[in-house]
Amino acid sequence: MKALTLDAENKTAFVQDVTIPERGQNDVLVQVCAVALNPVDALYVFNPLGSTGRTVGSDFAGVVVAPPDQNEELKRGQRVAGFLQGACSVNIRPGAFAEYIICPADLVWLVPDSMTFEEAASVSLCALTAAQAIFYRMGLQAPFPWEEAGEGSKHNDSKVQNSDDGNSFSFFIYGASTSVGLYAAQLVRRSAEFTGRAITLIGAASSGRFPMLQNQPYAYDALIDYRDENWPERVRELSGGGVDYAFDCISEGSTVQLVSSTLRNSRSRMAIVRSHEGGAWTAEKGLPVEPVYGAVWEGLGIEIQYQNLVVSASPAARRFAVAFYRWISEEYKLQANPTRLMPGGLDRIVADGFVLLGAGSMQDRLSERRTEPWMAPIGAVKLVYRLCSLSDTAIDAIAPIYSG
Ligand SMILES: NC(=O)c1ccc[n+]([C@@H]2O[C@H](COP(=O)([O-])OP(=O)(O)OC[C@H]3O[C@@H](n4cnc5c(N)ncnc54)[C@H](OP(=O)(O)O)[C@@H]3O)[C@@H](O)[C@H]2O)c1
Repeated sequence: MKALTLDAENKTAFVQDVTIPERGQNDVLVQVCAVALNPVDALYVFNPLGSTGRTVGSDFAGVVVAPPDQNEELKRGQRVAGFLQGACSVNIRPGAFAEYIICPADLVWLVPDSMTFEEAASVSLCALTAAQAIFYRMGLQAPFPWEEAGEGSKHNDSKVQNSDDGNSFSFFIYGASTSVGLYAAQLVRRSAEFTGRAITLIGAASSGRFPMLQNQPYAYDALIDYRDENWPERVRELSGGGVDYAFDCISEGSTVQLVSSTLRNSRSRMAIVRSHEGGAWTAEKGLPVEPVYGAVWEGLGIEIQYQNLVVSASPAARRFAVAFYRWISEEYKLQANPTRLMPGGLDRIVADGFVLLGAGSMQDRLSERRTEPWMAPIGAVKLVYRLCSLSDTAIDAIAPIYSG
């Protein structure tokens, strides 16, 4: 098959023929129809952690070619999506930017007929990142059951008093137009609906995004422009003295310190998307609340090693991810993020998509300007590539089974 593979020496990636990975007992083999790009995919091509030849990429959507034996839930020809770790760690495991992938069967979710493969590819990594931060790490009530006892309860300890009053809460999302932020708003709303609690949802984005963010499915109660001076003060005013929960979906430079200053008190909770150890953000003054960081890879339930960081294998995080994907499979209550279909398939990911993403931080993105329509800066949109359409798929059994 064709796959986009790492060229570590030259800090790039190229498409070559590789062997289809061998399927483990509980793995599903998927023909990939679309992939979505995430900042980490480009980050670890431009700053490689591992050896040349590894398959790059995280998010995929496609059709089941071979379900695990004895698995009654997955069938050949079903539309599924998920994410892999790819070349984003020291551990050698194949990624998603390939014609075929293997993935543990309980970590794929069923794509509804109403959703395109490109839309589905935009969901898995970013929606799980948001769900982990909001429910698993900050402890807001999830709208789906997951095992809260045992290991996971340290993240969700009901004995620890939150700053909200039980009947209502305020939630601030910094970077509301990021891919993670768009799912975060929807998940916070689903939680409020599920528990019947009143919510004040406040977001920070550039003002051009306000009309989109004021509408369903995000329905922000208040929005502020992160380029305005004194925006933290506005958030405190809008929330009547500070928010109960804050999620910084950027976590770069001074954002963590500024977002932290919007919290109501020391019992408020805050989550971030980039680690302090990675050096993406700095805080000059002490933070009143320790922000919780976690890598989405935790959801895979396997150890992931970075250069200076080890994400331990966490059965609880894995159970949470499985429960989350089961929820979106069974009652799909999230709207997929807007997508931009990039031309050229696998061959153009490095030349176009990774150029737009830059080397990992939002600041890096500002330098590159090209004139092709698909090379407009990324804003409230997910870059996706089509790898196959159903008409040219090689799965001979699809037609009788596939109903989409
Ligand atoms: N911890 C994890 O496991 C994990 C998982 C996924 C992502 N991440 C990280 O989360 C971050 C967001 O990723 P993403 O894929 O969601 O991003 P994305 O969709 O590419 O974000 C693009 C958006 O960022 C906004 N933005 C840029 N600079 C900003 C700033 N200084 N303040 C506020 N908003 C700003 C822009 O907003 P406007 O258009 O409104 O200006 C743009 O719409 C990345 O750093 C990524 O590496 C971490």
